[in-house]
Amino acid sequence: MGTLILGIESSCDDTSAAVLEDTKILANVIAGQEVHKNFGGVVPELASRAHQQNIIPVIHQALKQANIQKNQLDAVAFTRGPGLLGSLLVGTSFSKAFAMASGIPIIEVDHLKAHILAHFITDSPEQKVPEFPFICLTVSGGHTQIVRVDDPHSFSILGQTIDDAAGEAFDKAAKIMGLPYPGGPYIDKLAREGNPDKFNFPKPRIPGLDYSFSGLKTSFLYFIRDELKKDDAFIEKEQANLAAAIQRIIIEVLMDKLVLAAKESGISQIALAGGVSANSGLRKALGDTGKENGWKIFIPEFQYTTDNAAMIAIAGYFKYLDKDFASQDVSPYARSNF
Ligand code: KG4
Ligand code: ZN
Repeated sequence: MGTLILGIESSCDDTSAAVLEDTKILANVIAGQEVHKNFGGVVPELASRAHQQNIIPVIHQALKQANIQKNQLDAVAFTRGPGLLGSLLVGTSFSKAFAMASGIPIIEVDHLKAHILAHFITDSPEQKVPEFPFICLTVSGGHTQIVRVDDPHSFSILGQTIDDAAGEAFDKAAKIMGLPYPGGPYIDKLAREGNPDKFNFPKPRIPGLDYSFSGLKTSFLYFIRDELKKDDAFIEKEQANLAAAIQRIIIEVLMDKLVLAAKESGISQIALAGGVSANSGLRKALGDTGKENGWKIFIPEFQYTTDNAAMIAIAGYFKYLDKDFASQDVSPYARSNF
């Protein structure tokens, strides 16, 4: 048997546990939290309570699926941050206690680096993984970054959002349209039926490789407010076209800077990561832009796009090889530690 790592993720509203043998996935169990649906966003206090309820059953299930006994594990990797502190504390405390009782080391993992390293999880031996250096566009509910990766331990941010994240832009546009939270998947679905060119909204003009999405959200909000004054069924009638238009613009903004980053760095291995990489329009756009620019592209499987513990376990595996273990007094961090 290779190295067996138990990964634990609890940074936001998904409780997840995974078992990896070296880079190979044996189990990846995710328990989502329905409690937030009616609140239009994640309620931190409810999230940490749900993590407490879910963490033991989720770990049991992961071990069972992987057909692994607790005493076979070599280490526990957990998300140290960034995320909601109360939620992170559940995974961190559990990992410490579990590792101490089992006499194995703990490995702290940065959630954003883990999203990127998810590309190295192998489901089959033929799977192609990125070569170093590569560039990763990480697009999630909390972050939007263009990251240069030189090896599994060396990451540098080339550009990032100065305000809202891309996922937030999707979720806020969805909220304005009266769609449930998180709205990204709803916009994606509606956009398939709509005309992306029916409406236009101004793109942000931010120099360099940074992003901004808050102005786009405001112009979307004002446009809809004005149209509703003329026709109170406007959203209903134009739902698909509005979704298609806002999705097109978010994707164009993301792609423009990614093309620039590839040109400036001379790197043509380009990967996508984070929850928004589940978006069908973005996946297609990366494929098309990749062809035009001669890139080798890496798009994660759907199960590794949103938050999951398999990505925490793979990031932990790379640290395990370096014997980079955490001590029992490690505490979570809410903000990015890049
Ligand atoms: O990475 P993630 O699961 O959690 C964070 O670390 O934030 O990302 C969640 C974000 C949410 O904003 C959600 O709306 C967005 O990913 N998302 C999508 C899609 N699926 C998830 N956005 C657009 N299209 C999708 N299909
Ligand atoms: Zn995430």
